[in-house]
Amino acid sequence: MCGIIGYVGKRNSVPYIIDGLKKLEYRGYDSAGISILQEGKLVTVRAVGKVAELEKAALQLSPKGTTGLGHTRWATHGKPSEENSHPHTDCSGEIVVVHNGIIENYLMLREQLISLGHLFKSETDTEVIAHLIEENLKHVRAASDEDRLLKAVQKTNKEISGAFAYGVMWARTPGLLVGVKNQSPLVVGVGKDESFLASDVPAFLQHTNRVLFLEEGEMALLRAGKVTVLDKTGTPKKVRPVKISWDRQTAEKGGYAHFMLKEIYDQPQAIEDTLRTARTDFGKILGMDTAALRALRQVHIIACGTAYHAGLVGKYYLEQFAGIPVTVDLASEYKYRTVPHKVKTLAIAISQSGETADTIGAINKAKEFGFHTLAICNVLGSTLTRVCDRTFFTHCGPEISVASTKAFTSQITAMYALAVSLGKANGNLSKSAFDAAYRDLMQLSKAMGETVKLEYTVRHLTRKIYKADKFIFLGRHVNFPIALEGALKLKEVSYRSAEGFAAGEIKHGPISIIEKGTPVFMLMPQDGLFEKMLSACQECRARGAFVVALTTPGAEKAAKSVADQVIQIPQTNDLLQPVLNVVPLQFLAYWIAKRLGCDIDQPRNLAKSVTVE
Ligand code: M6R
Repeated sequence: MCGIIGYVGKRNSVPYIIDGLKKLEYRGYDSAGISILQEGKLVTVRAVGKVAELEKAALQLSPKGTTGLGHTRWATHGKPSEENSHPHTDCSGEIVVVHNGIIENYLMLREQLISLGHLFKSETDTEVIAHLIEENLKHVRAASDEDRLLKAVQKTNKEISGAFAYGVMWARTPGLLVGVKNQSPLVVGVGKDESFLASDVPAFLQHTNRVLFLEEGEMALLRAGKVTVLDKTGTPKKVRPVKISWDRQTAEKGGYAHFMLKEIYDQPQAIEDTLRTARTDFGKILGMDTAALRALRQVHIIACGTAYHAGLVGKYYLEQFAGIPVTVDLASEYKYRTVPHKVKTLAIAISQSGETADTIGAINKAKEFGFHTLAICNVLGSTLTRVCDRTFFTHCGPEISVASTKAFTSQITAMYALAVSLGKANGNLSKSAFDAAYRDLMQLSKAMGETVKLEYTVRHLTRKIYKADKFIFLGRHVNFPIALEGALKLKEVSYRSAEGFAAGEIKHGPISIIEKGTPVFMLMPQDGLFEKMLSACQECRARGAFVVALTTPGAEKAAKSVADQVIQIPQTNDLLQPVLNVVPLQFLAYWIAKRLGCDIDQPRNLAKSVTVE
């Protein structure tokens, strides 16, 4: 869960690397470092804290060189400190390595290397890679230093185990960077007279949009403007760069104070983009013929965090439209429970990044059972999309803020599209029901455009409540997951205590935590459960809660009679309503965090993609 960037070209690599690291900060931000090859010597600068700290330190030393590597860290092995920051070196100081992932057998390797006389300077697993390459270089024979390095890295790859992506630079091979990908993200950018190695595309997107996605076990040799990809067996492979349509603006804040706010406002477009797949490629999404679809007996949904909440909403859709029983599991739980697997099952993994280790682990288990697997994912070329049989790309553009917003609403939208198409294909949904469901879906982006106008109302409300020490969110049916998501969002960015419950459950225990003035958010659109939500409002208000009712047109008057404040959300059909209902809660989290002075895009202790178990 770190960010890697490498540059090799004709210009000074330092500004490219520092800038790339800033774009990768969402992957980890407890320390950062760079190594530059300057006149045959490696110059390394490292600093604890964000990339801005590294930038200050680098300015003082002002290294210059056309080949370099950089890293932003999210600690796994060893505390955040300068010694543990990457890049890490071998004993000679001639080899540097930046790494993302975990080397599982590093303790054993470390002991072996120490017994061979290697001196370790950090507590990290990464450092063993540098020393192993150094050790292997002593034993490999080749005509040139470049070939020797290649062979030593290949030997190293056979000796280390785990999920990793890393970049290597050797002082004796100027103008060459080596990248290795094995179950952690690594992409290559091919520019004119320059090449880039990175954990994610935005790191170099402003310099080139020509991208090579490496497969698992592959290596890349990067030179100025020229890249050679070697497959698992070490054989050079012909690959064409993919042109990425995201432009620099898309990957940046677009004038908003934070990525989170920008991404909330991106949602009308994001839904539009997600549905483009549904419009053009509906029947092909699953890659199953009608007979196979009709034979499906159950669906397992697997995801983490916000994506899990999208999965919870998806369960209602699949059961309603396709009539298939659905289970929804946290990926970290699915992997370790007994899963009955005798019947025809579709396993759906939902993930924005496609790099979440828990989700990948769980879907691999589903694959072992022979389940058909589908990813609902946002990131092209990510690990999950390679593991699954098929992918429904949400195409909602890069999500940089650690707190997920547009990916969530796109995931729900994708689940709805999938469920109605499945219902149509397996005969559970009549043509007229399908048409109605589809029509509402195609109106969703417009309704979202109206919903984001609620920012001002929510912002104003937060002035009254932002100092509260706990917040409660209640909903029922499809809005129950939205209560969970509202609470998660608030916790993540504002560090306040927040809990989401099924509204019918509060009387079974949680109501005891309500005190005078506790803000309680009621998700109560005018649907079949509206009356029950009115009762829940009264129960909370009777205990002194400050009740905010989130409702839809027509229900305002009734809501006003039981709430301290009413927020009116545009209306869609009952099942799609959660996509809109979550928006004021996203603004709520944003504005409370902003008023409290929190680090909104990079909340403490978190990272955007959790690539370790
Ligand atoms: O990339 P993924 O969707 O697989 O990530 C899953 C969770 O880590 C993620 O949703 C996390 O909960 C977010 N920070 C929520 O805002």
